Amino acid sequence: MPSIVVIGAQWGDEGKGRVVDTYAEQADLVVRSQGGSNAGHTVFVGEKQFALHLIPTGIIRGKRSVIGNGMVVDPEYLLREMAGLEADGVPVRPHLLISENVTLVTPYHKALDRANEERLGDRKIGTTLQGIGNAYMDKYGRMGIRAIDLLDEPTLRERLRENVEMKNVLLTQVYGAAPLEFEPMLAAFLDYAEQLAPMIADTALLINQALAAGQRVLFEGAQGTMLDVDFGTYPFCTSSNPVAAGACTGAGVSPKLIDRVVGVAKAYTTRVGSGILPTQVDDPTAERMRPIGREYGTTTGRARRIGWLDLVVLRKAALLSAPDSWAITHLDVLDDFDSIPLCTGYRCGGRTLELFPNALYQLADCEPIYEHLPGWRQPTSGAHKLSDLPDNARRYLDRVTELTGTPVSMVLVGPRRDQTIVVGETWG
Ligand code: IMP
Repeated sequence: MPSIVVIGAQWGDEGKGRVVDTYAEQADLVVRSQGGSNAGHTVFVGEKQFALHLIPTGIIRGKRSVIGNGMVVDPEYLLREMAGLEADGVPVRPHLLISENVTLVTPYHKALDRANEERLGDRKIGTTLQGIGNAYMDKYGRMGIRAIDLLDEPTLRERLRENVEMKNVLLTQVYGAAPLEFEPMLAAFLDYAEQLAPMIADTALLINQALAAGQRVLFEGAQGTMLDVDFGTYPFCTSSNPVAAGACTGAGVSPKLIDRVVGVAKAYTTRVGSGILPTQVDDPTAERMRPIGREYGTTTGRARRIGWLDLVVLRKAALLSAPDSWAITHLDVLDDFDSIPLCTGYRCGGRTLELFPNALYQLADCEPIYEHLPGWRQPTSGAHKLSDLPDNARRYLDRVTELTGTPVSMVLVGPRRDQTIVVGETWG
C-alpha cells in the first residue's frame, strides 16, 4: 500500500501533525500539497515540541519531504522555519524539496490580507494574516510568482515589478495603506533565490517516480474539510482544497495512485477565526477543555472555540473524501464528563439536516440534535490498545463509526508519540 492521504475532517487543528508523524515513521516521502504558513502542525518528541507550518512533518523523522505545487510559500517564513528546526538539531536542507511550480507569498500578499481584514471590520474572516488568500488570488489570476521564477533573475525582476506596481495601486488607492518598495523586495527575493535554489525541483516527477518504485508516499493535508474553498463554510474558509482530491492536484499525482485516505477528527470540535460552530459549548465547559486540549492556535496563539463532536460535519468530510478510516484525536480531553453530547443532525424548522449545507443562510434557525452518551470518568491517557480504553470510551468511538459508516483506525489519547492507539497495521 504505497500511498496514504491524511486529511482534516473538521475546521483544521484536528491533530493531523501527530497522525502524520505516526504514518511518517514508515514512509519514504512526505508531501504537503495545499495551504501555507497558515497551517500549524505540532509534534512532541519527548518533551520537545515542534510546530511545523510550511515544512512537512516528515522532516522530524528525517524523511524526504516535499513542498508541493498546490501550496503557497512565503520564502522568508520558510527560511526562518528551516533555521529554527536546524537550530533544534533537525536537518532540513538534505531532505527538503520545493516544487518548481509552487506559488510564492510576498510582502504585498500579507499587506493586502491585513488591509482587507481591516476593511471587513466586524465581518472579517479572521484569517491568519499570512497572505494566503491573496497569494491564491494571484495564482488563479495567473499573475503569481512561482519558485521556478526565482531561478531566472530577469523573469523574477519583471514579474515582481509588475506585481508591486499593481498591488501598490490597490494598497494606496483602495485600502489607503502604505505602498511597498520594489528594489528592497527584489533584493530580498534574490537572496531567497540563492538560499532555496538547491531545493527547487520538479517534485511531481519525483513523487511519481517514488510511487512507481513502490515507495511509501504520505500526503499531509492541512486545514480541514470545513475550511475548503469549494465545500467549506464559504466565505469563512481558507483558499485551498483540504479535501482528499486536493492532494492530487496539489502534488501532481493521479487519483488512480492514491491507495488510502485517513480522515482526522478530534473527539470534539474546534474552530479558530470567524464563522459558525453549530455545536459550540458554553464558556465554562470550553474553559475546562481548553487547557487539557491545548486549544490555542499554533500559528496565531488565538484561543480556539470548542464544540461537541458534530457528525453532520464528519458526514460531509466522508462524502467529499471517502476516508477508509478515521483517526480520532484528543479523546483524553473528554475523560472527565458524566455525559457526552454527540451531534447527530441539525433541526431546521420542520426539517432535519444530516449533511452540512453549502450556504450559511441554510443554517438559519437550525439547532443541533444531540444524542447523550455516557462518559467514562477515567483517564484514557495511558491506553496503548483499544481494549485498554474504558467501555464507554469504546462505545463512543463505535457510535461514531455507526453514524458515519467509517471505522476508526487510530486513536490519540495525549500529545506524546506513545499515546497513540493504532488499530491493525499503520501502512497495512
Ligand atoms: P487563511 O487561511 O489565513 O486565509 O484563514 C482563513 C480561515 O481559515 C480563518 O478562519 C483561519 O483561522 C482558518 N485557518 C487557516 N488555516 C488554519 C489552520 O491550519 N487551522 C485552523 N484554522 C485555519
